[in-house]
Amino acid sequence: MSRLDSLIKRFIAQRDCLDHTATLVADIPGPIFELGLGNGRSFDHLREIFPDREIYAFDRSVSAHPRCIPDADHMIVGDIRETLNYCLPRTGGKAAMIHVDLGNGDPTYGLALTAWASPLVASRVLPNGVVVSDAELDLPDFEKLPLPDGVKPGRIYFYRAPSTLSVEG
Ligand SMILES: C[S@@+](CC[C@H](N)C(=O)[O-])C[C@H]1O[C@@H](n2cnc3c(N)ncnc32)[C@H](O)[C@@H]1O
Repeated sequence: MSRLDSLIKRFIAQRDCLDHTATLVADIPGPIFELGLGNGRSFDHLREIFPDREIYAFDRSVSAHPRCIPDADHMIVGDIRETLNYCLPRTGGKAAMIHVDLGNGDPTYGLALTAWASPLVASRVLPNGVVVSDAELDLPDFEKLPLPDGVKPGRIYFYRAPSTLSVEG
């Protein structure tokens, strides 16, 4: 499969999981965390499907399309390994949904990402909240959710947090 085909399939998988998540977290009040603003494409989609939620975007710098940059209160700039740990006073609490989109296509970077992001993400999502991730995460207590129809396993990772998680940070 060409890299173009692979990219298109990954984008479709990402969009379908995000859309499905909007239904899954409909009854879980709380903000949405976008880890990796990048160009702002998925942030822009999240704004469409979660029009009434606070959406916080995290990135080490802001280089998104000018129409896809969150306002200053919702843009958390810095290394996510640090900012995600300390974001709760600003976000008002844990997230109903975390979208992890931090990969750069390098498999070694991907392994490192899994190692550092897994415990952080687990500590910042609400009970029964949902995690959509471009990298496989090590979340042993989380339920692996079935992927939407047509999405091949390994293209995107989809988890639901246990109901026993703490609401507080
Ligand atoms: C694949 S891009 C995100 C694409 C974006 N979601 C979109 O749809 O346009 C990955 C982004 O993650 C950011 N990133 C990766 N590791 C990071 C880290 N440790 N801290 C902060 N930002 C990070 C990069 O700066 C980059 O902008």
